[in-house]
Amino acid sequence: MKVGLTYNLKQDCPQSEAEDAAAECEERETVESIVRALQSGGHTVKEFPYGSGLLRQLEDERPDIVFNVAEGWSGRNREALVPAILEFLGIPYTGSDPLTLGLALDKVAAKRVVLAGGVPTPRFFEVTRLEDLAALERAGLSYPLFAKPAWEGSSKGVRSRSLLEDPAALKAQVEWLLRTYRQPVLVEEFLPGREFSVGLLGNGELTVFPIIEVLPGEELARELGGRNFVYSYEVKSGNRERFRCPAPLTEEEERKVVAVAVQSYRLLGCRDLARIDLRCDAAGEPHFLEANPLPGLSKVSLFPLQVRAAGLSFEELINAILAVALERYGLG
Ligand SMILES: Nc1ncnc2c1ncn2[C@@H]1O[C@H](COP(=O)(O)OP(=O)(O)O)[C@@H](O)[C@H]1O
Ligand SMILES: [Mg+2]
Repeated sequence: MKVGLTYNLKQDCPQSEAEDAAAECEERETVESIVRALQSGGHTVKEFPYGSGLLRQLEDERPDIVFNVAEGWSGRNREALVPAILEFLGIPYTGSDPLTLGLALDKVAAKRVVLAGGVPTPRFFEVTRLEDLAALERAGLSYPLFAKPAWEGSSKGVRSRSLLEDPAALKAQVEWLLRTYRQPVLVEEFLPGREFSVGLLGNGELTVFPIIEVLPGEELARELGGRNFVYSYEVKSGNRERFRCPAPLTEEEERKVVAVAVQSYRLLGCRDLARIDLRCDAAGEPHFLEANPLPGLSKVSLFPLQVRAAGLSFEELINAILAVALERYGLG
């Protein structure tokens, strides 16, 4: 088949005030490994880097299907834009549709949807301007709180100082987030428990990959003493985390984690693949944090790590994603 590949390269990311602006986008190396994987599946690959000529280029080339990893540059609709163009042109593509990509990227909207479906998620308040903080205090959320940009990923806007013990710390962090990321801020009750991520593949009957647990690396654990771990941008970019995959869980714990992940996947309308991030409260109950319908596929990303723990190679993963998408379109 003629497979298109749509992506955003880190090196093309427009400058912004935020130091972590390009964090979601791809290294050239990742694009090349996806190309090689698709070729190993017997396909011809044509690359379509994100840009203003995309619609015309796709229309001229008309790939049979597009393998989409394009994150877009900015705004909560950024991940929805390429799939919307592909739908406009009637070209099949891998992964979720524009509605789900936009819904998942707006963490506040996603929480409202999973909450309505009965999935536990930390109590929260959306701050669109500093004046909202008075109403937040009246809403009675319990400290410590946690503040993050509502429409980012890859730990953008998440720092160790995102964990907030009192109103003064909350105000300072919200002020910085509003100014730097120019979007609403999601303030949540802080979950002090273990952190997990669940990789899912398919439609209808889902493949659940081994659950990954994210923990502080040895050096960071020593520095933290007993203080809470946050999977922040500093930790991620400094490779200061450690993973356990499969995570050691009792059958009962695993059942609960998988239930939160699978229900969230279905409630948000995810297709083909997604990674769901969860964290446990003080009682050990898993809660939905956010969904990643375009999970990172680089060599160091969580989804490929989970897949490897299941005994599948990167090439097998890429071709499995393509296969579930083709089957969904009846092209299998
Ligand atoms: N309510 C919360 N309680 C505890 N930790 C949180 C909370 N929200 C986010 N975090 C921490 O911040 C990290 C990034 O948050 P997440 O919502 O997954 O955003 P991103 O899209 O950047 O991955 C999480 O992996 C977790 O360590
Ligand atoms: Mg996350």
